[in-house]
Amino acid sequence: MRIDKFLSNLKYGSRSNIGIDIKKGLVKINDKIITDSHFKVNPLKDKVFYNNILVPYFKNLNLMIYKPKGYLSANSDNLHEVVVSLIKDPFDKYDLKIAGRLDLDSEGLLILTNTGSFAHKITSPNSKIAKIYEVLTDNTNLNYEKMLDGVIIKDKDNVDFLAKALKIIKIGENLFEITIDEGKFHQVKRMFKALEMNVINLKRIQIGKLKLGDLKPGEYRIFDEDELL
Ligand code: URA
Repeated sequence: MRIDKFLSNLKYGSRSNIGIDIKKGLVKINDKIITDSHFKVNPLKDKVFYNNILVPYFKNLNLMIYKPKGYLSANSDNLHEVVVSLIKDPFDKYDLKIAGRLDLDSEGLLILTNTGSFAHKITSPNSKIAKIYEVLTDNTNLNYEKMLDGVIIKDKDNVDFLAKALKIIKIGENLFEITIDEGKFHQVKRMFKALEMNVINLKRIQIGKLKLGDLKPGEYRIFDEDELL
Protein backbone atom coordinates (compact mmCIF):
# COMPACT_ATOMS: atom_id res chain seq x y z
CA MET A 1 0.00 0.00 0.00
CA ARG A 2 1.20 3.54 -0.75
CA ILE A 3 2.54 5.25 2.35
CA ASP A 4 0.32 8.33 1.90
CA LYS A 5 -2.76 6.11 1.63
CA PHE A 6 -1.71 4.07 4.66
CA LEU A 7 -1.37 7.22 6.78
CA SER A 8 -4.53 8.89 5.52
CA ASN A 9 -6.51 5.67 6.16
CA LEU A 10 -5.30 5.95 9.74
CA LYS A 11 -6.62 9.54 9.84
CA TYR A 12 -3.24 11.26 10.05
CA GLY A 13 -4.53 13.87 7.60
CA SER A 14 -5.43 14.30 3.96
CA ARG A 15 -3.24 12.64 1.37
CA SER A 16 -2.03 16.04 0.16
CA ASN A 17 -1.02 17.21 3.65
CA ILE A 18 0.66 13.89 4.32
CA GLY A 19 2.45 14.28 0.96
CA ILE A 20 3.85 17.62 2.13
CA ASP A 21 5.07 16.10 5.40
CA ILE A 22 6.64 13.21 3.50
CA LYS A 23 8.56 15.72 1.32
CA LYS A 24 9.69 17.47 4.51
CA GLY A 25 11.24 14.17 5.68
CA LEU A 26 8.84 13.63 8.60
CA VAL A 27 8.06 10.03 7.68
CA LYS A 28 10.41 7.13 8.28
CA ILE A 29 9.90 3.51 7.27
CA ASN A 30 11.96 1.18 9.43
CA ASP A 31 15.16 3.21 9.76
CA LYS A 32 14.98 5.13 6.47
CA ILE A 33 13.44 8.56 5.85
CA ILE A 34 11.35 8.42 2.68
CA THR A 35 10.44 11.47 0.59
CA ASP A 36 8.23 9.86 -2.06
CA SER A 37 4.46 9.56 -1.36
CA HIS A 38 4.27 6.63 -3.79
CA PHE A 39 6.59 4.56 -1.61
CA LYS A 40 5.01 1.17 -0.86
CA VAL A 41 4.68 0.01 2.71
CA ASN A 42 3.77 -3.42 4.04
CA PRO A 43 1.76 -2.55 7.17
CA LEU A 44 2.21 -6.06 8.57
CA LYS A 45 6.00 -6.00 8.34
CA ASP A 46 7.27 -2.43 8.19
CA LYS A 47 7.52 -0.04 11.10
CA VAL A 48 6.30 3.42 10.11
CA PHE A 49 7.29 6.50 12.11
CA TYR A 50 5.56 9.87 11.75
CA ASN A 51 7.39 12.72 13.46
CA ASN A 52 9.60 10.01 14.98
CA ILE A 53 6.60 8.38 16.70
CA LEU A 54 5.73 4.80 15.80
CA VAL A 55 2.41 4.51 13.96
CA PRO A 56 0.58 1.58 15.60
CA TYR A 57 -1.15 -0.71 13.13
CA PHE A 58 -3.71 -3.44 13.74
CA LYS A 59 -5.02 -5.46 10.83
CA ASN A 60 -7.86 -6.85 12.93
CA LEU A 61 -8.73 -4.68 15.85
CA ASN A 62 -11.19 -6.07 18.39
CA LEU A 63 -12.06 -4.04 21.46
CA MET A 64 -14.26 -5.01 24.37
CA ILE A 65 -15.68 -2.06 26.27
CA TYR A 66 -17.83 -1.67 29.35
CA LYS A 67 -20.64 0.45 27.89
CA PRO A 68 -21.87 2.77 30.61
CA LYS A 69 -25.59 3.47 30.97
CA GLY A 70 -26.71 6.55 29.05
CA TYR A 71 -24.38 5.94 26.12
CA LEU A 72 -25.84 5.06 22.75
CA SER A 73 -24.46 1.98 20.95
CA ALA A 74 -23.53 4.07 17.91
CA ASN A 75 -20.66 5.88 16.19
CA SER A 76 -22.35 9.29 16.24
CA ASP A 77 -25.57 10.91 17.38
CA ASN A 78 -26.94 14.43 17.81
CA LEU A 79 -28.73 13.80 21.08
CA HIS A 80 -26.79 11.32 23.17
CA GLU A 81 -23.22 10.51 24.06
CA VAL A 82 -22.04 7.60 21.92
CA VAL A 83 -19.95 4.68 23.03
CA VAL A 84 -17.41 5.08 20.21
CA SER A 85 -16.47 8.52 21.59
CA LEU A 86 -14.94 6.73 24.60
CA ILE A 87 -12.31 5.13 22.36
CA LYS A 88 -9.07 7.10 22.36
CA ASP A 89 -5.87 7.26 20.32
CA PRO A 90 -4.62 5.14 18.58
CA PHE A 91 -7.79 3.00 18.35
CA ASP A 92 -10.00 5.96 17.38
CA LYS A 93 -8.20 5.94 14.03
CA TYR A 94 -10.05 2.77 13.03
CA ASP A 95 -13.55 2.39 11.61
CA LEU A 96 -15.15 0.42 14.40
CA LYS A 97 -18.38 -1.50 13.97
CA ILE A 98 -20.58 -2.37 16.92
CA ALA A 99 -21.21 -6.11 17.09
CA GLY A 100 -24.47 -6.45 19.04
CA ARG A 101 -25.97 -3.29 20.46
CA LEU A 102 -27.09 -2.61 24.02
CA ASP A 103 -30.00 -0.28 24.80
CA LEU A 104 -29.27 3.28 25.94
CA ASP A 105 -30.14 2.38 29.54
CA SER A 106 -28.34 -0.99 29.49
CA GLU A 107 -24.71 -1.44 30.44
CA GLY A 108 -21.90 -3.92 30.18
CA LEU A 109 -19.96 -5.84 27.58
CA LEU A 110 -20.01 -4.38 24.07
CA ILE A 111 -17.77 -5.43 21.20
CA LEU A 112 -16.24 -3.06 18.68
CA THR A 113 -14.31 -4.41 15.73
CA ASN A 114 -12.92 -3.16 12.44
CA THR A 115 -13.43 -6.62 10.93
CA GLY A 116 -16.82 -6.97 9.22
CA SER A 117 -16.73 -10.77 9.06
CA PHE A 118 -16.09 -10.99 12.81
CA ALA A 119 -18.93 -8.56 13.58
CA HIS A 120 -21.19 -10.67 11.38
CA LYS A 121 -20.14 -13.88 13.12
CA ILE A 122 -21.03 -12.40 16.52
CA THR A 123 -24.41 -10.99 15.50
CA SER A 124 -25.64 -13.62 13.03
CA PRO A 125 -28.52 -15.68 14.48
CA ASN A 126 -26.94 -18.73 12.81
CA SER A 127 -23.81 -18.44 14.96
CA LYS A 128 -25.84 -19.13 18.12
CA ILE A 129 -23.34 -17.29 20.29
CA ALA A 130 -24.54 -17.25 23.89
CA LYS A 131 -24.84 -13.95 25.72
CA ILE A 132 -25.25 -13.69 29.46
CA TYR A 133 -27.09 -10.81 31.12
CA GLU A 134 -27.42 -9.86 34.76
CA VAL A 135 -30.98 -8.63 35.26
CA LEU A 136 -32.40 -6.68 38.17
CA THR A 137 -36.19 -6.88 38.24
CA ASP A 138 -39.06 -5.37 40.22
CA ASN A 139 -40.36 -8.80 41.16
CA THR A 140 -38.83 -11.83 42.85
CA ASN A 141 -41.20 -14.47 41.51
CA LEU A 142 -39.84 -15.72 38.25
CA ASN A 143 -41.49 -18.54 36.33
CA TYR A 144 -38.30 -20.43 35.42
CA GLU A 145 -40.09 -23.09 33.42
CA LYS A 146 -41.79 -20.58 31.16
CA MET A 147 -38.52 -18.73 30.65
CA LEU A 148 -36.83 -21.99 29.57
CA ASP A 149 -39.77 -23.28 27.49
CA GLY A 150 -40.03 -19.91 25.77
CA VAL A 151 -42.21 -16.83 25.88
CA ILE A 152 -43.84 -15.16 22.89
CA ILE A 153 -42.49 -11.80 21.87
CA LYS A 154 -42.91 -10.00 18.54
CA ASP A 155 -40.00 -9.77 16.13
CA LYS A 156 -39.30 -6.63 14.08
CA ASP A 157 -41.93 -7.61 11.50
CA ASN A 158 -44.51 -7.96 14.27
CA VAL A 159 -44.51 -11.73 13.90
CA ASP A 160 -44.67 -13.95 17.00
CA PHE A 161 -41.30 -15.25 18.09
CA LEU A 162 -40.72 -17.88 20.76
CA ALA A 163 -37.86 -16.50 22.84
CA LYS A 164 -36.16 -19.05 25.06
CA ALA A 165 -33.61 -18.75 27.81
CA LEU A 166 -30.85 -21.36 27.56
CA LYS A 167 -30.26 -20.98 31.25
CA ILE A 168 -31.63 -18.83 34.04
CA ILE A 169 -30.36 -18.62 37.59
CA LYS A 170 -31.25 -16.52 40.60
CA ILE A 171 -28.23 -14.72 42.01
CA GLY A 172 -29.94 -12.33 44.42
CA GLU A 173 -33.31 -11.33 45.85
CA ASN A 174 -34.56 -9.99 42.51
CA LEU A 175 -31.37 -10.46 40.52
CA PHE A 176 -31.11 -13.10 37.79
CA GLU A 177 -28.57 -14.29 35.26
CA ILE A 178 -30.10 -15.19 31.93
CA THR A 179 -28.35 -16.80 28.95
CA ILE A 180 -29.79 -16.42 25.45
CA ASP A 181 -28.38 -17.07 22.00
CA GLU A 182 -30.80 -14.88 20.08
CA GLY A 183 -30.72 -11.12 19.72
CA LYS A 184 -34.14 -9.62 19.03
CA PHE A 185 -34.75 -5.95 19.78
CA HIS A 186 -35.11 -5.42 23.57
CA GLN A 187 -35.24 -9.19 23.86
CA VAL A 188 -34.36 -9.62 27.52
CA LYS A 189 -36.63 -6.81 28.69
CA ARG A 190 -39.50 -8.17 26.62
CA MET A 191 -38.98 -11.74 27.85
CA PHE A 192 -39.30 -10.59 31.44
CA LYS A 193 -42.21 -8.31 30.54
CA ALA A 194 -44.01 -11.35 29.07
CA LEU A 195 -43.85 -12.83 32.57
CA GLU A 196 -45.09 -9.61 34.16
CA MET A 197 -41.71 -8.49 35.43
CA ASN A 198 -40.07 -5.15 34.68
CA VAL A 199 -36.34 -4.94 34.16
CA ILE A 200 -34.83 -2.24 36.33
CA ASN A 201 -31.23 -2.80 35.32
CA LEU A 202 -29.66 -4.83 32.55
CA LYS A 203 -25.98 -5.62 32.35
CA ARG A 204 -24.36 -7.87 29.74
CA ILE A 205 -21.57 -9.80 31.41
CA GLN A 206 -20.51 -12.34 28.78
CA ILE A 207 -20.53 -12.96 25.01
CA GLY A 208 -19.40 -16.43 23.95
CA LYS A 209 -16.40 -17.15 26.19
CA LEU A 210 -15.55 -13.48 26.62
CA LYS A 211 -16.30 -12.13 30.09
CA LEU A 212 -16.69 -8.49 31.10
CA GLY A 213 -14.44 -9.33 34.07
CA ASP A 214 -13.21 -6.39 36.10
CA LEU A 215 -13.53 -3.70 33.42
CA LYS A 216 -15.11 -0.54 34.85
CA PRO A 217 -17.72 1.58 33.00
CA GLY A 218 -16.01 3.27 30.04
CA GLU A 219 -12.89 1.07 30.18
CA TYR A 220 -11.85 -1.06 27.22
CA ARG A 221 -9.18 -3.47 26.09
CA ILE A 222 -8.06 -5.34 23.02
CA PHE A 223 -9.02 -9.01 22.72
CA ASP A 224 -8.34 -11.86 20.27
CA GLU A 225 -11.10 -13.63 18.35
CA ASP A 226 -10.31 -16.91 20.08
CA GLU A 227 -11.03 -15.39 23.52
CA LEU A 228 -14.67 -15.21 22.41
CA LEU A 229 -15.25 -18.15 20.07
N1 URA B 1 -31.98 -7.18 25.68
C1 URA B 1 -32.54 -5.98 25.99
O1 URA B 1 -33.73 -5.90 26.27
N2 URA B 1 -31.76 -4.88 26.00
C2 URA B 1 -30.44 -4.91 25.74
O2 URA B 1 -29.78 -3.85 25.78
C3 URA B 1 -29.86 -6.15 25.42
C4 URA B 1 -30.66 -7.27 25.39
